[in-house]
Formats: sequence, structure tokens, C-alpha cells
Amino acid sequence: MKLDQLCVAYYSPTHTSRAVARAVGDGFGIARRTEIDLTTDRSDTPLAVKDSICIVAAPVYGGLIAPVAARRIARLRAENSVAVPVVVYGNRDYEDALVQLRDLLHGQGFTVLCGAAFVGEHSYSRPGMPIAEGRPDAQDLREAEAFGRQAFASLLRQLNIAETPDPAARDFALAYDAPLEHLVATPPMKGNVPYKTLGPATPQAPVVGDLCYGCGECVDLCPTGAISLHDGRSTTDVALCTKCCACVKFCPVGARTFDTPYTAMLHERCSARREPETFL
Ligand SMILES: Cc1cc2nc3c(=O)[nH]c(=O)nc-3n(C[C@H](O)[C@H](O)[C@H](O)COP(=O)(O)O)c2cc1C
Ligand code: SF4
Ligand code: SF4
Repeated sequence: MKLDQLCVAYYSPTHTSRAVARAVGDGFGIARRTEIDLTTDRSDTPLAVKDSICIVAAPVYGGLIAPVAARRIARLRAENSVAVPVVVYGNRDYEDALVQLRDLLHGQGFTVLCGAAFVGEHSYSRPGMPIAEGRPDAQDLREAEAFGRQAFASLLRQLNIAETPDPAARDFALAYDAPLEHLVATPPMKGNVPYKTLGPATPQAPVVGDLCYGCGECVDLCPTGAISLHDGRSTTDVALCTKCCACVKFCPVGARTFDTPYTAMLHERCSARREPETFL
């Protein structure tokens, strides 16, 4: 049996989970690498992940994985593959999200190698009211890369591989002779099982201002297809909006705003820098 490639999978509307996942992948240093972006892919078809070391990153919403992320990640079907769950949260807390992602990946057939929680700029962060602004920063990304290196070393140790194959080689493969679940142990991770339960969400969506000129960029980047163009301006289906704020952050003219009392509250209460946590 063999593991012969690295896979970096993520759901990441505002790109912080993507940045962390890629940096963890860099730490593995394996040249045979594929990327699965689940952010705007609304298909239901299963995605096979075979003979892979798969980093899977998702944002934390309300102390759990973003519900759309959980649905998209449930499309991954592992065959002889290990997973590295990574959650990214906006400097408040990740609560039960990491154990939830760990269990989801296990249910999809992965053997879970290790896990981590990193901090990303909060979706509700605004100029003048920052919450973890600019994160993951250079220090976070160095730590994500170091975590990837440690995870790779742990995998080699557990597979009893004495002579490490060159990760840059085109024929890279880690060979071993027992099922992965017999060789690789999942370490304890922070979080509760059963997971917390959430109350019903209040429907809300960003408001479109006069600056909108109908370029359609937000239509393409909205993860749930909530945005459409009418009469040269974008409009939003509130029922489909997940409040991810991708359209707010990436509109080229700042035409979209999302006003929530949480911005001021989080700015006040969650400004003390939190650091990444890794579980190896
Ligand atoms: C609806 C919603 C709920 C959120 N809940 C939390 C939370 O419970 N704890 C936290 O620290 N950050 C929370 N965040 C912030 C995101 O986890 C954070 O901004 C993350 O970096 C976004 O990931 P992305 O850039 O991959 O989209 C929430 C964001 C949204 C939109
Ligand atoms: S990205 Fe901005 S300007 Fe372009 S359609 Fe969307 S809201 Fe309008
Ligand atoms: S409309 Fe809602 S779901 Fe779509 S990008 Fe904007 S905030 Fe995210």
C-alpha cells in the first residue's frame, strides 16, 4: 500500500482557511499536490480522494464548522488516505469545530493524522473596527508550515518509514504494509462531543449601495448562489445568504456592507491576539 500525493482541500469564502491550508501543505513539501476548492462548487457528486495525505480546512461559524463547509466536505470519499483537519476562526473561539471536522472526515473514510486551529481575520471585521485584521499573518503562516512539517514527520514515524523518499520526486510514494487505521493513531483534540447545538439563525444579508455597477464579481464568488444581477445591480436572496461576507470584502468598489452589532462586540471583546493550537 502507498500514499503518493498531497491534497489541499478547503471551503473558504474570505480565503483565510485557504491561506492556512496551503501553508500547511507547503510544510509537507510534497511536489505531487492537488487542490480541491469546495467554496463555490455547488455540485453534490462525490469526490474520490485516493492514496492521499489530505489537508482539509474550513471556517468556524458559531463554534462549529460552517454548515455549507460541512455539506461540501461530506462529498469527499476517502480510499486509503489520511486527513489533517484544520479549522480557522476569527479570534473568538473554535469551540467544537475541530472535533466536528475530525469526526466528519473519519466518517468519510479518512484516517485522521492530527489537527489544528488557526486564526483568520473575522468575516465581520471592518476598517476602524478590526477583529484579527490581516490574519493569518506571516507568523501564522510560518506556524502553519511548521505544523505541516511536524505532521509529515509524525506520519513517517507511525508508518515506520526509515528512509524518507524525496518529497520533490515525481515518483514520490510512502510504502507500508498494513491498513492505515492500524498504523496511524489520532491524537486527542480540543472540543466537546456531543457538539454544541445552535439556535435558529436570523436571516440577514449584505446591503447593496449606489456604488454597485453590476460587474458581477460577487455573483461568481458567492458560495451559495445568493447573488444575481438585475437592472445593472446586484441583489441578494436573503434566504440563501450565509453571511460569509466574501461579497463585502471582495467587491472592487466597496458597494456591499453588512451591518451587525457583533462587529463592535467582537472588536471590543476579542481583540487580544489568540495563537494557533496544534494537536499532534
Ligand atoms: C456566520 C459566521 C459565524 C462565525 N462564528 C465564529 C465563531 O464562532 N468564532 C470565531 O472565532 N469566528 C467566527 N466567525 C469568523 C470566521 O470563522 C473567520 O472569519 C474565518 O477566518 C473565515 O474563514 P474564511 O476566510 O475561510 O471564509 C464567524 C463568521 C461568520 C460569517
Ligand atoms: S462586486 Fe460590487 S460592483 Fe460588482 S456587482 Fe457585486 S456589488 Fe456590484
Ligand atoms: S451574499 Fe451572503 S453568502 Fe453570498 S457572498 Fe455575500 S455574504 Fe456570502
